[in-house]
Amino acid sequence: MKIIESIESLNEALATVRETGKTVGLVPTMGALHEGHMALVERAKTMTDVVVVTVFVNPTQFTNSSDLTLYPRTPEKDAALLANHGCDIAFFPSVDEVYPEGYQTPAVPLGNLDKVMEGEFRPGHFNGVVQVVNRFFEVIQPAFAFFGLKDFQQVAVIRFMTDYLHLPVTVVPCPTLREPSGLAMSSRNMRLTASQLEEAVVIYETLTFAKSLVETRTPAETKKEALERFSHSTLKMEYFSIVDPNTLEELTDNWVPGATACLAAFCGEVRLIDNMTLN
Ligand code: PAJ
Repeated sequence: MKIIESIESLNEALATVRETGKTVGLVPTMGALHEGHMALVERAKTMTDVVVVTVFVNPTQFTNSSDLTLYPRTPEKDAALLANHGCDIAFFPSVDEVYPEGYQTPAVPLGNLDKVMEGEFRPGHFNGVVQVVNRFFEVIQPAFAFFGLKDFQQVAVIRFMTDYLHLPVTVVPCPTLREPSGLAMSSRNMRLTASQLEEAVVIYETLTFAKSLVETRTPAETKKEALERFSHSTLKMEYFSIVDPNTLEELTDNWVPGATACLAAFCGEVRLIDNMTLN
């Protein structure tokens, strides 16, 4: 595996790949890697010839400065994990490398996608995500890019960006990997204590409980009962929405295929998100 820090070296490495007509798969990450990220790498390996993983804690998508400072950083461990999972190129750029002076990001009008859920509680977050992913698409020119459905709204945003800008990249959504307890794997879990790790399982339990109600309740009733169940926990709910998977509009009276419950909650100081397709 090549470990690369500059765009110049990345271009050199990719030039050889392109000359030989090989396909490039991109897995963008912010590091503190875990098995959930590795599942994306494994998927990329089955679909592309050369797998590039970017490890970059993107400052422009953080809406809270302490969240950015406290975001876990484990570069040596990340590099070892990537090498073990057959990543070909690990790209660890600096902020200046990603955002050189005068760098212009194309405007992408996200509309409702950026107004609800994460968009409402982290204003500007998805503009930062669009900015960095677009930059990596431009530099790496992957044929396929792999994203986890753990970040359900992010997948919708990246798909919209790719269509809107007519980018020649196929976005591949990948299923969420969970701990045996049901807790979705996340870099942020490293910041939880042992007891918080147990308490956080209520997120998964609330989502599976909501799923069990689909046959007999409307979306609005399901939400009410799920919130009631969650309220007995020590976590603080930020939002719980049952949405249409395409428009992300909240459902109230009728179910649609692929209706998805999305949730964000604080476990102590740590903000966790998760979602589940209900029908
Ligand atoms: P990060 O949170 O590091 O996640 C990188 C990728 O791994 C995302 O596509 C995310 O959905 C996926 N992922 C995280 N946990 C997962 C899990 N438990 N199962 C499956 N996939 C999982 O998402 C970001 O970084 C950033 O916003 C990024 C896209 C890199 C832009 O900066």
